Amino acid sequence: PIPSISNAWIVTYILLSLPIYFTISAAVNPIPINGTCHDTCGTISVKYPFGSGFGCGHPDFARYVRCNAGTLEFSTGTGIYNVSDIDYSSSTLIIRDPFMSACSSMQNSGSFSLDRASPFTLTGENIFVLLGCSTNSPLFDPAEDLCAMGSRSRVCRGLYSCKGVTGIGLLQNAPPSTCCVYESPIQLAGYTLDLPKLQCSSYTSVYSFGGSEGDPMKWKFGISLQYNDSYYSNVCKDCETSGGLCGFTGFDQSFACVYENGKNTSTSCFGQGYEWSGTRESKNLNMLSFGGLLLLWLLISF
Ligand SMILES: *[C@@H]1O[C@H](CO)[C@@H](O)[C@H](O)[C@H]1NC(C)=O
Ligand SMILES: *[C@@H]1O[C@H](CO)[C@@H](O)[C@H](O)[C@H]1NC(C)=O
Ligand SMILES: *[C@@H]1O[C@H](CO)[C@@H](O)[C@H](O)[C@H]1NC(C)=O
Ligand SMILES: *[C@@H]1O[C@H](CO)[C@@H](O)[C@H](O)[C@H]1NC(C)=O
Repeated sequence: PIPSISNAWIVTYILLSLPIYFTISAAVNPIPINGTCHDTCGTISVKYPFGSGFGCGHPDFARYVRCNAGTLEFSTGTGIYNVSDIDYSSSTLIIRDPFMSACSSMQNSGSFSLDRASPFTLTGENIFVLLGCSTNSPLFDPAEDLCAMGSRSRVCRGLYSCKGVTGIGLLQNAPPSTCCVYESPIQLAGYTLDLPKLQCSSYTSVYSFGGSEGDPMKWKFGISLQYNDSYYSNVCKDCETSGGLCGFTGFDQSFACVYENGKNTSTSCFGQGYEWSGTRESKNLNMLSFGGLLLLWLLISF
């Protein structure tokens, strides 16, 4: 019977050693979370998969959206844009390019692009309008058919009726021949509006007519984006139920449940994970000495 007792000890020892191994490997990872994650940024409610800072929300989103001094910002290769609204029920958000035109004020704009690999796509609500374009622009190439005709071209006339149009060097009610309602790959991810290439001085995006198509002052200007809403997992739901906010930690950006006091986070939520707290080193030591004791018992039992 003695060898079988030893076998039982070996099994017990291995089982009890596993958490020690995992605790040590977790402890060598840096903790990117400083302080807490918040559920608002200025006046905007911040919910998963968005986060208020690095280590908060989902890592795929943290690259694009962050809270900077009370302003929620969206970054792409072409710039940093304010997020003015997030609608969680329809998984959409509105961003505002500071250099895009609106009826009240028009100005030269930069290009806009959306990274193909990002979890964001343009919604079909956007009407992109290119303003102040050269008549030699490739937009007006009759073979390409890039500008919408018919009812959508009323958008051009509407915008050129705005007083703001003088900001791009045009007279109010100028002929809309230098304006284009751009119908190119609007619903695609990885979308680029390259103004120098299109030879236009400005652009705008209208995502709603605000109930009054005849009055461009009431139109809503901004870019409406759809985000991939399939990131919400059961482990995140559990974290939120336990009063935490979902985040990530370590080199592998693995899931972490972040509590609002910022004092601890764990890889899961109901205390079965590993705590990140000031006492974790002494805990590791305790676990190591416990492991050593077991090893001693194991040797004695042989
Ligand atoms: C962490 O947050 C504290 C305040 O909460 C701040 O003073 C400190 O500079 C921050 N450290 C880093 C590395 O961001
Ligand atoms: C972005 O938000 C900040 C702070 O709320 C504000 O100062 C800034 O003017 C905004 N930029 C644009 C383009 O709306
Ligand atoms: C949304 O994200 C999920 C999980 O990250 C991914 O499997 C899926 O392909 C994405 N969907 C789209 C349309 O990109
Ligand atoms: C985190 O800290 C809070 C308060 O200090 C405590 O109530 C909670 O149980 C802790 N959570 C974990 C996972 O240790």
